[in-house]
Amino acid sequence: MSDETQLEARLEEQDRFDPPESFVEQANVSDEAIYEEFENNWPEAWERAAELLNWETDWDQVLNDDDEPFYEWFVDGELNATENCVDRHLDERGDEAAIEWVGELGETRTYTYEELHREINEFAAALREQGVEEDDVVTLYMPMVPELPIAMLACARIGAPHSVVFAGFSADALAERMNAAESETLVTCDGYYRRGDALDHLSKAREGLADVDGDVTTIVVDRLGDDAPTDVDDEHVYGDLVADHEGATVEPVTRDAEDMLFLMYTSGTTGKPKGVKHTTGGYLSYAAWTSHAVLDIKPEDTYWCSADIGWITGHSYIVYGPLALGTTTVMYEGTPDYPEKDRLWEIVEEYEVTQLYTAPTAIRAFMKWGPEYPEAHDLSSLRLLGTVGEPINPRAWKWYYKHIGDEECPVVDTWWQTETGGMMITTLPALGTMKPGSAGPPLPGVSADVVDASGDPVEAGRAGYLVVNKPWPGMLRTLYNNDERFIEEYWQEYSIPERDQWVYCPEDGAKIDDDGYITVLGRVDDVLNVSGHRLGTMEIESAIVGVEGVAEAAVVGGDHEMKGEAVYAYVITEDGQAETESFREEIIAAVEDAIGPIARPEAVVFTPELPKTRSGKIMRRLLEDIANGDEIGNTSTLRNPEVVDDIQQKIE
Ligand code: WT7
Repeated sequence: MSDETQLEARLEEQDRFDPPESFVEQANVSDEAIYEEFENNWPEAWERAAELLNWETDWDQVLNDDDEPFYEWFVDGELNATENCVDRHLDERGDEAAIEWVGELGETRTYTYEELHREINEFAAALREQGVEEDDVVTLYMPMVPELPIAMLACARIGAPHSVVFAGFSADALAERMNAAESETLVTCDGYYRRGDALDHLSKAREGLADVDGDVTTIVVDRLGDDAPTDVDDEHVYGDLVADHEGATVEPVTRDAEDMLFLMYTSGTTGKPKGVKHTTGGYLSYAAWTSHAVLDIKPEDTYWCSADIGWITGHSYIVYGPLALGTTTVMYEGTPDYPEKDRLWEIVEEYEVTQLYTAPTAIRAFMKWGPEYPEAHDLSSLRLLGTVGEPINPRAWKWYYKHIGDEECPVVDTWWQTETGGMMITTLPALGTMKPGSAGPPLPGVSADVVDASGDPVEAGRAGYLVVNKPWPGMLRTLYNNDERFIEEYWQEYSIPERDQWVYCPEDGAKIDDDGYITVLGRVDDVLNVSGHRLGTMEIESAIVGVEGVAEAAVVGGDHEMKGEAVYAYVITEDGQAETESFREEIIAAVEDAIGPIARPEAVVFTPELPKTRSGKIMRRLLEDIANGDEIGNTSTLRNPEVVDDIQQKIE
């Protein structure tokens, strides 16, 4: 056996990995006692997170739990998020890079803290001039351009919550989110580059605006220059506004700890996206603390999270967490395989990236492309690797550990959600033995468990429902304008109010090992995870039934080698509607129009009936089994068992 194959064989068998000594020596958190400290001194131990920030007024109380589950953190504290992410670093780090932006065409832009500060002030002044006031929700529908984090921080500076809508979402999705948030200001972009082509974004934004109630002020960033001569009617050009306010300064507005920092719409079980509300004090403390403790971020690092800022990962771990710690955060506009499949590794080498935080779906792609791409680059600057968004299988974990980290970097598999604001379950990189496939124990101060349907803890190794038993500073405070739905969606299932036990339910399946390590198995509600993107089956179904000629539809997730899950749509047509290829195309187009290309169905299966229980509920499990070509589970409770064979034949 060659050395290389011997090494491979060893790695294959190994199921536990200890943090590399070289990492432990320099880690931000390396004392095991931290778990006990949080345990013995809860919730006061959370002050440690808040102390990473500058407060204008200190809090009087760490946690107010008088009105559960409407918890408040760092009560009566006052601060401004932008002051914390930018202003306070100016003295020591004004000339250091805050953002290193890499465009898809290879162009780059560096913003020092000083430059970032200047443009944030100018744009904040421009927003004010446009009539944006404290507490007005500003919608940001933008791709990965530096003006996106600048706009976020300009909003935070004047106390206007932002609602970022992922640029890949459709016009309809934009309109729905703007209407739900009653947002009357939109910052968008003329377009962006994908695989070298200029993509039009502005038409989509305009189309969405046509369905938005109220009088909207629109500001457009010119990303494409001459590639997209835009005729700006009553819209404002970002660059002009900033130029008009050259040198302007805007005092950061004092915000209460519990004041809303931003809204983020995410998918749930119903057709309507949920407006998750995050606060200034608790969220920012939590983002900063987890960036410090888990990502091991230090000011002199060049840290890179390859997510899109349009999702919570980008909010917490491209913008707020890293900038609160005064580090350099890398932002990449494009895709990992353009112009070549080594694009990410080229960037790691060029910028001497110290931490890389990415998603299992990307790691699976890297594996498929082969180790020669990372091998062609010097990745020795890397000190830590992270993953987030979906379960990572041990093979992909080990590939990442070996081929990207050279077995020298701890890998943190971080479980969390839009709603949690930041990481919840993961090993601490210098402390926990890593078990590929298992995220690890809950963070210090976080209390999680796996329970059965009646809320009792399950035995080690058995599957159950993940729950969080105690509040944490980064938690969502409510769903925007909908306290009732907040309770229904997250607190009703396992909480026993009479016993004063409020339990947060993330809707994930999980198992817990003897050593307290938690393996997250995936969603237990009707939410899909396609390439790490969260999609509601109901949202897709309502788009499909909106197509003329469709009588009924059911959408489920089928296993997919690269995407994790893929969208399978089962469709019953109305009498007289032919089941043609062009009708199938029409259905696919309707989904893309309602949500965006990320929700594009992998398969549209026409069927005369859907498998239903006697009470009329669609048996989604069966549809999943069919999509996966798995053995079909028990069909005896079906009203129409014969339909299963029918559908199976169609899919083969
Ligand atoms: C859902 C949340 C957290 C930011 C990105 C997604 C799944 C997330 C992991 C992980 C297994 C994971 C869960 C969760 N998930 N991280 N490390 N292992 N599953 O945020 O869009 O709110 O989705 O992503 O199912 O509920 P999101």
